[in-house]
Amino acid sequence: MKNKLYKIAPSILAADPLNIERDALLAEKSGAYRLSVDVMDGHFVSDITFGSNIISELKKLVNIPVEVHLMISNPDHQIDNFINTGADVITFHYETGVDITNLTQYIKNKNVNAGLAISPDTKIENLTPYLKDIDEVTVMTVIPGKGGQSLILDCLKKIQFLTEFRKNESNDFLIQVDGGVKKDNITNVFNAGADIAVAGTAVFNNHSTVEDNMNALFDKLKV
Ligand code: DX5
Repeated sequence: MKNKLYKIAPSILAADPLNIERDALLAEKSGAYRLSVDVMDGHFVSDITFGSNIISELKKLVNIPVEVHLMISNPDHQIDNFINTGADVITFHYETGVDITNLTQYIKNKNVNAGLAISPDTKIENLTPYLKDIDEVTVMTVIPGKGGQSLILDCLKKIQFLTEFRKNESNDFLIQVDGGVKKDNITNVFNAGADIAVAGTAVFNNHSTVEDNMNALFDKLKV
């Protein structure tokens, strides 16, 4: 029985690009809490990945939520394209320098949850002014821009700040970890206080099936 207390969000970035429909359905069937879709613009990060059309189709395909992780510059310029996909959560980066309060409010006014992501080199304290309004914080445990990297354990320390802040301020934002989550560290991730773990290459790879990979992650979390 999968322990539903632990929320795993497979990252479509690591799925077979020619079989995204198949892999998304396999992930859903294997107990994924939601899908995470990494949008990259070739400017904020060097790669270019998915556009809003793929996200719209994924929303029609699966019954689980879809989170859009915008690794793009000027997310405010593109935000309506992604709101119109039906995405459940739209996460943008602190490092874009966008007006976080305004963009958060804009997204929430459209009945979409707003997530704020922070890269490894950014101090978690910088998020303090925004935590009362944001729905989710994504702690990047790799340098944004590509899957298959190793998790930077030091980044998990940021979660302690977030969990203490949330408790002291009676906030209810969720904490997501994204990057390098694998069988050998997923227990650390949730023990550090994460609510959701994004997993790309740990779920979608050529070594074993999506179902076996998801079960292997859940098995590590069994008490
Ligand atoms: C980095 C990407 C990756 C991806 C997860 O920009 O956001 O973190 O979602 O890929 P893995 O789990 O392979 O690191």
